[in-house]
Amino acid sequence: MISPPLATPTRQVPTTATQYADIGALQPQRVLDWYAGAARDLPWRHSGVSAWAVMVSEVMLQQTPVVRVLPMWTAWMARWPSPAALADDSPAEAVRAWGKLGYPRRAMRLHAAAQQVVTRFAGNVPSAVEDLESLPGIGAYTARAVAAFAFSARTPVVDTNVGRVLARAVHGRAQAGPSVAAADRAKMELLLPAEPARAAVFSVAVMELGALVCTAAAPDCPACPIRPDCAWQLAGAPAHAGPRRRSQRFEGTDRQVRGLLLDVLRTTSEPVSIGDLDGAWADGAQRNRALDSLLLDGLVGQLTDGRFVLAGERTDTSPAIMEL
Ligand code: ADE
Repeated sequence: MISPPLATPTRQVPTTATQYADIGALQPQRVLDWYAGAARDLPWRHSGVSAWAVMVSEVMLQQTPVVRVLPMWTAWMARWPSPAALADDSPAEAVRAWGKLGYPRRAMRLHAAAQQVVTRFAGNVPSAVEDLESLPGIGAYTARAVAAFAFSARTPVVDTNVGRVLARAVHGRAQAGPSVAAADRAKMELLLPAEPARAAVFSVAVMELGALVCTAAAPDCPACPIRPDCAWQLAGAPAHAGPRRRSQRFEGTDRQVRGLLLDVLRTTSEPVSIGDLDGAWADGAQRNRALDSLLLDGLVGQLTDGRFVLAGERTDTSPAIMEL
């Protein structure tokens, strides 16, 4: 619920780095105190969790809500507790175990990242942001999240939740712009406490504030620990002025059809004929388009006899996978 503004604005929204540092909208102690009492008990945040466990959680959380990630992460860590364990298995098993988390290319890239961790970093997830960013599927956000949460690095971790908190608390805007990137990281860096471990907790605390209180659709401003200094509240909680974001339709999209085709391949380690895939979706043109895109993405391979398998599937009898 969007609550009424606190009062007539008394402060200007900051425009320079010095002002960001001065304004104190995101005062670390307030956010940290709130986090100490309100944070969810999520297993990848427990002390002593391995860097690999943190990396897997961050990849899974990239586009999937926490409740759906929890059981998958638990199963994944039990099965592949180290990068070496995953690298020893086939990419097809990784895609199969990814189940319904969505965006299954993440599973393939995580497998490729595990292989590189083994070959390039002696099996240890690297701690430097540049090394992390050099791994498949690890972008600017995930690299910094792993560096901060697994290695207590002092580095700005900005996801969509943090971007929205910055947009409101610092800029006085209802929503973040279409992309949160370098500019938000620069702002966040100015706000980070000096001590690295404290900076890392501050980052996850701001993220949690965005996930639980400063939500996109229904911010719970009365429960917000920084409400008195929030630039958006001080500006009278103006509505979003830009174009409305269209919510992403899933039903009937190629993404849905790709998921259905993958479901067929996941349930068997045997090669599957095109006839077996035909039943997954009635519209043949869309089905073929989805299958083509799975082949192009490398999620599915085609054997020389024309049948299909999850990419990297280890089969005893199959002829070689065709080069794409
Ligand atoms: N804790 C650490 N990283 C997280 C994330 N990406 N989402 C939710 N909780 C987290």
